[in-house]
Amino acid sequence: MNPLNPFAESPHVVTVALNPALDQTIEIAGLRPGAVNRALRMQVDVGGKAVNVASCLSDFGVNTAVTGQIGRDNAALFEELFQRKKIANHCYYLDGLTRINSKLVDTVSGETTDLNMPGPEFTPAAATELLEQVLQRLDLLVEHARWVVLSGSLPPGIPEDAYATITRRVQAAGGAVLLDTSGAPLRVALATGPKIVKPNRHELAELVGRPLDTLEALVATGRELLAGSPAPDLVAVSLGEDGALFLTRNQALRALPARVNVSSTVGAGDAMVAGLVAAQLEGLSLADTARLATAFAAAKLTRLGPHLPRPAEVRALAQQISVLPIA
Ligand SMILES: Nc1ncnc2c1ncn2[C@@H]1O[C@H](COP(=O)(O)OP(=O)(O)OP(=O)(O)O)[C@@H](O)[C@H]1O
Ligand SMILES: [Mg+2]
Repeated sequence: MNPLNPFAESPHVVTVALNPALDQTIEIAGLRPGAVNRALRMQVDVGGKAVNVASCLSDFGVNTAVTGQIGRDNAALFEELFQRKKIANHCYYLDGLTRINSKLVDTVSGETTDLNMPGPEFTPAAATELLEQVLQRLDLLVEHARWVVLSGSLPPGIPEDAYATITRRVQAAGGAVLLDTSGAPLRVALATGPKIVKPNRHELAELVGRPLDTLEALVATGRELLAGSPAPDLVAVSLGEDGALFLTRNQALRALPARVNVSSTVGAGDAMVAGLVAAQLEGLSLADTARLATAFAAAKLTRLGPHLPRPAEVRALAQQISVLPIA
């Protein structure tokens, strides 16, 4: 347990970082595989989806905590971000390094090559121990925090039903879960009834095992999720540069993306997740939820790391988002 006074303020949202990462971006003019490449510049950002969500929420002024795991050997970078953004650190410290994902940005071709690490390998005993610690931490936090965000991949050895287990426990204690993951962890946890899910179109297509090439197919599939039992209250399907769909049992909306200067699309989905939760805390209508979540994503696109401009700017952006009803 980290010493940084984690109980200082009662957080309203907890994000669960089971597989955080450091994102190392290296710029190279003309990447040549197999050769010695001279890099121009390197930047290291603290990341991983749950940390990105916490970072955006905190920029918007929401008291946020992170639980999960980080590696002791490069924990300082996480601690610096948590301290700077006043994010309560409830992470467990493991021996070794937090994984480092590399992005090789070729400044000539404009292409980015991603090298993503799987994360630390958990033995069954270590996986059980981490999950038990996270569950106990959530039991305490959910007394104050209504929303728990489960986002990102699971490291090797963490069972694919980990998010399902957490969802059951949190929601039995009166909390509400927003789920943003893919593959088996998404499928298994969805069956436990998280209140909100935010797949992108590829994650949704993989979930149902068929291509979703049209808006009609995407909406119909979102509605299938809403007709399940148990079912989420809100399904947001993000469509990259095509915007996003926001579906409930009695409403279907499409938000068009804002026209902004894109610095980086990395983490746009994470910002949208943060915006969805912020909208829930404010009790917004579905249309205003769609506007705020899309504004979070658009605001993040203008920056490199998981950071937002001042809340007033994000709110002003939200007013400019077009939201259309879907028949
Ligand atoms: N190129 C873009 N131009 C405008 N808006 C974009 C663009 N890319 C993303 N967005 C906005 O960000 C939202 C989320 O993006 P996206 O669908 O790519 O999420 P994602 O695939 O979950 O991303 P990630 O998981 O990498 O953060 C979109 O719904 C849209 O509003
Ligand atoms: Mg995503």
